[in-house]
Amino acid sequence: MIGRLNHVAIAVPDLEHASETYKRSLGAEVSEPLELPEHGVRVVFVSLTNTKIELLEPLGVDSPISKFLTKSPSGGIHHVCYEVDDIYAARDALVKDGARILNKNDPVIGAHGKPVIFLNPKDFNGVLIELEQS
Ligand code: CO
Repeated sequence: MIGRLNHVAIAVPDLEHASETYKRSLGAEVSEPLELPEHGVRVVFVSLTNTKIELLEPLGVDSPISKFLTKSPSGGIHHVCYEVDDIYAARDALVKDGARILNKNDPVIGAHGKPVIFLNPKDFNGVLIELEQS
């Protein structure tokens, strides 16, 4: 069912500092920051040849990243995103298999303007998985 790794998302306490570190220490190509209020994040994209890394900083009081950073103040891997051909077929197969999907099983429009679902980490080895329509 799953295809390419679309991105790995890393929660960071300071987006400018994290961007600088990726540029200077790792020689990475890093985009300008983008605010996504509907997702409660500021984000930069680190382009790699085979995938991308998203550095996420909390935006607003209800940011899903804030709680994560309370537990891991220096940041950490927040989720991984795999591509699927058909988000509804993937959703239906996962529900049938007993997996729990956040947001009452309904796809939402993700950070790249495509429908996504998030899978309960308890069903996947403690890792939050995002599936994105490719
Ligand atoms: Co993501």
